Amino acid sequence: MSPPDRALERIVVRRRGPLEGTVRVSGAKNSALKLMAASMLAEGTTVLRNVPAIVDVQIMGRLLTAVGLEVSRDEDELRVTTGGHDLVPEAPYELVEQIRASIVVLGPLLARCGRAKVSLPGGDDFGSRPIDMHLRGLEALGATFELRHGDVIGEAPSGLRGADIVLEFPSVGATENIVLAACTAKGTTVLENAAREPEVQDLCHLLSAMGADIEGIGTSRLVIHGVNGGDLSPVDHRVVPDRVEVATYLACLGVSGGELTVLDARAHHMEMLVSKLSDMGMTVTALPDGIWASAPERLRAVDVSTLPYPGVATDYKPLLTAMLSVADGVSIVTENLFSGRFKYVDELMRMGANIRTDAHHAVVRGVPQLSGAKVLAHDIRAGAAMVVAGLAAEGETEIGDVRHVDRGYAHLVEKLASVGASIERRQSRSGSGSESASS
Ligand code: UD1
Repeated sequence: MSPPDRALERIVVRRRGPLEGTVRVSGAKNSALKLMAASMLAEGTTVLRNVPAIVDVQIMGRLLTAVGLEVSRDEDELRVTTGGHDLVPEAPYELVEQIRASIVVLGPLLARCGRAKVSLPGGDDFGSRPIDMHLRGLEALGATFELRHGDVIGEAPSGLRGADIVLEFPSVGATENIVLAACTAKGTTVLENAAREPEVQDLCHLLSAMGADIEGIGTSRLVIHGVNGGDLSPVDHRVVPDRVEVATYLACLGVSGGELTVLDARAHHMEMLVSKLSDMGMTVTALPDGIWASAPERLRAVDVSTLPYPGVATDYKPLLTAMLSVADGVSIVTENLFSGRFKYVDELMRMGANIRTDAHHAVVRGVPQLSGAKVLAHDIRAGAAMVVAGLAAEGETEIGDVRHVDRGYAHLVEKLASVGASIERRQSRSGSGSESASS
């Protein structure tokens, strides 16, 4: 039997009764990808556990293989081996353009090889996503860069050295690239206004276990004492659970009603979200090994504004907007991180949502229920938001472009079906259908 053609695959969702049961969250995409890149700093085999079975991990694996690492996978365990031969410090366009996170190979490649050629990254299509802070930070550590034919070409022939760096914004990716480069630089790096996301902390914990010397993990001031002599040691590390996947299940619960236990979820990684969900009428309780949550008959409207951690994450926003589109009352949703991140709103409006957007704001007037339609997943979280909307809609919702969902979610359909959602994958007979929605 030939494998399913992803371009023709659809996720089909219908409203059904309340959700009930237990679901286990996977490891975080936004951590696993960076931990994979970090593995190249250690000579030998780094073992990463709880790695999600998603397309972005496969792509990062191919990228690391192209650079000269060996990558193998067994269930949720990924082994990344460095050594034996020199690395090729070039990240090819065909792979880099598929995932934004690939830019984090820049710092470790410069540290290991003294030079790197990395195509400008692609990834989710939500507005302009520059890398100026990454480059300025690495320049402060002694690298020089030029942009040629779409590639960033960096050099640090005499090695990297510690520096004082202040980020103008706590960028997740820039923090990670600078930390990765600084671990084996000569001297001390002080990074102010660093990002504090749980996934950034996870990377710092992995590096510390490998022998890096990092103070202030989880704060906005990281002090990194470069390890003399270069190499770090490989370790065995479990990837932090995916808080955005947890938020996805809570959003599905919010519009369906019922009770859910999300195993491995960490409530303390999502305090602001839990507070917003409580304001919407949900009950969310921390358990020793996860989160238990229940939903009211109808959610209440709340205002939401995205901010760097510990604020409400921008990745939660499409999920929250889908929830608020069927809440009782009017909500104002403000996006403070990515300019173009309201594309999914057009899809929600095709389903009967009453939403007006203006620059960084969306005014969401809750309607009693949505109406199932053919829609598109414009990016990973937008795709998940369409699933939430489908669970809040009368009739059938058919989501196209599901390759975006597969980039970031492992077994989303199966997990939701196991707690009572009416959701399945279906192979469409032709490439038309949902695609027409985008024109
Ligand atoms: C990461 C996450 C993404 C999440 C985002 C914010 C990964 C793979 N992706 O993306 O899911 O939505 O954090 O939590 O981990 N910026 C610049 N110049 C730079 C870097 C960033 O202007 O050099 C801007 C961006 O355009 C954006 C803001 O800073 O407006 C935040 O971006 P950043 O935190 O860097 O996000 P990513 O690391 O790309």
